[in-house]
Amino acid sequence: MVSFKAAVAVLLLGCVLSASAAGLIATKNVTVYDFCDITPADVAPPLTKDMDFVGSVKFVSLGDADIAYRRFGNSSTGRPPLVLVAGLGETSAIWPASFLEYLAEQQEVIMFDNRGIGQSTDLTEGYINVTSMALDTLAFVRGLDLDVKVNLMGWGMGGMIATTCAALHGKYYNKVIVLSGTAGSLHSRHITPTANRILMSDPEPTELEKLWLLFPLEHTSAAAAACAYFRNPEPSVVDFFNYTTFERQARAFSEFFFDVDEVYEALPKIKNDLLLVGGEDDVMIPSQGLRVIARRTTTPWLVVLREAGNAAWIQYLPSFVSMLDLFLDAYPDM
Ligand SMILES: *[C@@H]1O[C@H](CO)[C@@H](O)[C@H](O)[C@H]1NC(C)=O
Ligand SMILES: *[C@@H]1O[C@H](CO)[C@@H](O)[C@H](O)[C@H]1NC(C)=O
Ligand SMILES: *[C@@H]1O[C@H](CO)[C@@H](O)[C@H](O)[C@H]1NC(C)=O
Ligand SMILES: *[C@@H]1O[C@H](CO)[C@@H](O)[C@H](O)[C@H]1NC(C)=O
Repeated sequence: MVSFKAAVAVLLLGCVLSASAAGLIATKNVTVYDFCDITPADVAPPLTKDMDFVGSVKFVSLGDADIAYRRFGNSSTGRPPLVLVAGLGETSAIWPASFLEYLAEQQEVIMFDNRGIGQSTDLTEGYINVTSMALDTLAFVRGLDLDVKVNLMGWGMGGMIATTCAALHGKYYNKVIVLSGTAGSLHSRHITPTANRILMSDPEPTELEKLWLLFPLEHTSAAAAACAYFRNPEPSVVDFFNYTTFERQARAFSEFFFDVDEVYEALPKIKNDLLLVGGEDDVMIPSQGLRVIARRTTTPWLVVLREAGNAAWIQYLPSFVSMLDLFLDAYPDM
């Protein structure tokens, strides 16, 4: 994989992991099977569960890109539709089926692929940044031609995009949920060096390394959650990875911390109800970034879960969905 200047800067500036976790990850000797004390036969067979409930793929044209999305769920619960924003290199396939099924009972769900990845096309191949991805999100949502303001929820880089949407285009959205996101700028801590290597420049990260990006394996509870996640992969829609787009997004991800102040600066102007959820030990997007958002906004709900990382909301899924329901029902919609 190609590394880039921002990644090098990240390596120089990042903070240091706990020695034991760094050792575990650095050696590559430990396989996920040894770590979880399972054999390949223990891993659930290929996904068979029916994903029909998410419906077929539709497109909104942005002119220079066609945004692929699926729209499904219950439109008569009184809640506005919930739009899901995927993260770095991710697509709609990142949302676990059981989670989507639950959400679909409570409201309409609209999940889309960012430009140039998944089933979304991109004619430009040009420079993108988190701001441009937030503009894409806005153009996409407006292209849906709904008569209500949607709720918006993004995870990881999707959480950066959702934060940017609230900060720069908040009047077009109702409530905003940021899962392990950040407002970036030099005020927010960025990815740790080991996570940066695994995510951005290791051509062959091990399964255990990939799990470690999501769960702080040094904690027994997180290790158990990680092993359960690995052992019982959830059904999802088909994923289409695009390496070129991943690289463009990765550059945007890094730049968000070094070159972009506008979202951080605009935080105090946010009027949307905000739910911020992350993990104390997130190595990809440190939870300090969520605390920064909380400090600079009016009435945020901030939940930083202990012994959890970037996938904190998955590790604590039952608690998280209760919290989400509470939040979405707590105040009148805008
Ligand atoms: C990991 O493997 C290297 C060589 O492949 C070996 O030198 C080292 O002792 C191993 N570490 C552990 C913890 O097993
Ligand atoms: C949708 O939600 C409404 C209100 O909660 C409920 O009455 C209805 O049965 C739900 N429809 C479906 C198909 O689940
Ligand atoms: C991947 O995305 C780029 C734009 O970033 C696009 O030009 C290219 O055609 C895509 N590749 C595939 C295989 O879809
Ligand atoms: C994002 O990219 C656009 C061009 O696509 C540029 O005009 C804008 O200044 C960039 N924003 C930031 C914050 O870098």
